[in-house]
Amino acid sequence: MKVFIVYDSRTGNTEKMAHAVAEGVKAEGVEAVVKKVNEASVDSLPEVDSLILGSPVYYGLPSGKLKGFIDASIKYHGKLDGKVGAAFASSGGTHSGAETTIISLLKALLIHGMVIQGTSGRNHYGAASVGAPDETAVETCRKLGERVAKLVKKLHG
Ligand SMILES: Cc1cc2nc3c(=O)[nH]c(=O)nc-3n(C[C@H](O)[C@H](O)[C@H](O)COP(=O)(O)O)c2cc1C
Repeated sequence: MKVFIVYDSRTGNTEKMAHAVAEGVKAEGVEAVVKKVNEASVDSLPEVDSLILGSPVYYGLPSGKLKGFIDASIKYHGKLDGKVGAAFASSGGTHSGAETTIISLLKALLIHGMVIQGTSGRNHYGAASVGAPDETAVETCRKLGERVAKLVKKLHG
């Protein structure tokens, strides 16, 4: 079982979140592969059980590079059906686009037919963090990774 975490990051905040999400995945005994978007290939998609996308918030939207990855993923349209999806985002401020960015990422994953688990506690849509992730944000990211890995095991284990 493998979880693919693809992120973009210019100043390192989303990158830190990506590694914390991976820690959570690994804590559940599932393999995590973390790639910055410019080093990630959509050709990895057929072999993974889950795709988690992370982006800095750019004008309330994912970065152009992440959108480019999503657009390239059409090569495998239909092949991600039933796999587990999730998203996280790093913003500069509060209430300034993190949730809209996460939802934009999740919409693309839903169009791929992926399964997305919400959260009844905090961070309903995924993991959001303002600026450099503090310990609370890191823990939120770890929890997201754990939840995804647990669902992967339920569906594909
Ligand atoms: C082009 C651009 C647009 C941005 N737009 C927003 C925005 O709409 N809302 C916000 O809260 N932060 C915005 N920011 C700030 C970044 O989302 C924030 O600094 C984030 O933590 C950067 O993540 P990174 O360190 O992974 O690159 C913007 C930054 C840039 C460069």
